[in-house]
Amino acid sequence: MKHIAFGPEDSADSLRVVDGPVPVPGPGEVLIEVDYAGVNRPDLLQRSGKYPPPPGASPVLGLEVSGRIAALGPGSDPWRVGEAVCALTPGGGYAEFCKTPAGQVLPMPSGMTPGQAAGMPETWFTVWANLVDLGRLAPGERVLVHGGSSGIGLAAIDLARLRGAQCFVTVGDEEKARFCQVFGAHATIDYRKEDFVARVQELTAGEGVDVVLDMVGGDYIPRNLSVLRRDGRLVIIALQRGARAEIDFNVVMRNRLVITGSTMRPRTTPEKTQIRDALRREVWPACAAGRIRTHVHATFPMAEAREAHKLMESGRHVGKIVLQVSG
Ligand SMILES: NC(=O)c1ccc[n+]([C@@H]2O[C@H](COP(=O)([O-])OP(=O)(O)OC[C@H]3O[C@@H](n4cnc5c(N)ncnc54)[C@H](OP(=O)(O)O)[C@@H]3O)[C@@H](O)[C@H]2O)c1
Repeated sequence: MKHIAFGPEDSADSLRVVDGPVPVPGPGEVLIEVDYAGVNRPDLLQRSGKYPPPPGASPVLGLEVSGRIAALGPGSDPWRVGEAVCALTPGGGYAEFCKTPAGQVLPMPSGMTPGQAAGMPETWFTVWANLVDLGRLAPGERVLVHGGSSGIGLAAIDLARLRGAQCFVTVGDEEKARFCQVFGAHATIDYRKEDFVARVQELTAGEGVDVVLDMVGGDYIPRNLSVLRRDGRLVIIALQRGARAEIDFNVVMRNRLVITGSTMRPRTTPEKTQIRDALRREVWPACAAGRIRTHVHATFPMAEAREAHKLMESGRHVGKIVLQVSG
């Protein structure tokens, strides 16, 4: 089968199509014939050696796909060969065939194209696990989401709306602000021009928010804590501005704050299956009802994966970037 290889230097230009063996699904796994693969920022981190695949996972890039079930390993019920699906993968999505645990597979969501469906699993598993399971976002609450126009950010806007919460987002320019407003954010904050702490206080009459979903880290960490109201939760999912910060823990004690965070890839298959089950129960019916959108900014043929990575590096995109693998 054809798949994308990268390296040895860390550059989008190193991405190239090569031939390799079709993976063989083991116990509890399915093999998917891939139609589309989602591109995520963690793929860029893996390319640069900062997000290595967990033991046993394919070294090929690609954390989410859509396509059809091509083969079943022993004990991979209830999936059937030929079924249209999308799936979170342990890696290996930038390929014509990809294997993944059966518990990480979802039916093709109704109302979505196969390209849109490929952009859902990594984003929605992450947003659900962090906003709902860790962040405990409840109806009537307020959440601040950094990177509102990212794939993760747009899904967070939809999830906040689904749960009856108010969502404020930070964005890097006016065009992204307009996009997020139309998409459903209650307010946007241009982080290049405005101090998000002051803006959140203004937007909430000094009360602050209940949850912050942070993909920035570094100096954002103490600032995030300062916009949380009593019993607030800071959930960290990436550290684009660094993993270290100085915190005044008086704020944490005074306001009974929770600081937490997670990464999706090292979670166990049973943990991912629990998230999959929650998405199937809570989010997939909302897709069918047209209440969840996936915005695909650009689709590239798999052979142009390097252009997809360059676009993500540029930060010009809004929402998802996907690779078309077949068809
Ligand atoms: N923990 C996990 O399991 C997990 C899983 C998937 C993804 N992630 C992380 O989630 C983030 C989004 O992923 P993605 O694939 O959707 O990537 P993406 O589309 O490239 O998004 C990156 C986002 O970071 C924002 N950003 C950068 N610096 C910022 C700052 N100083 N203030 C506010 N926002 C800032 C960008 O905003 P502008 O474009 O407006 O500048 C952009 O929206 C990435 O950092 C990724 O590593 C974590």
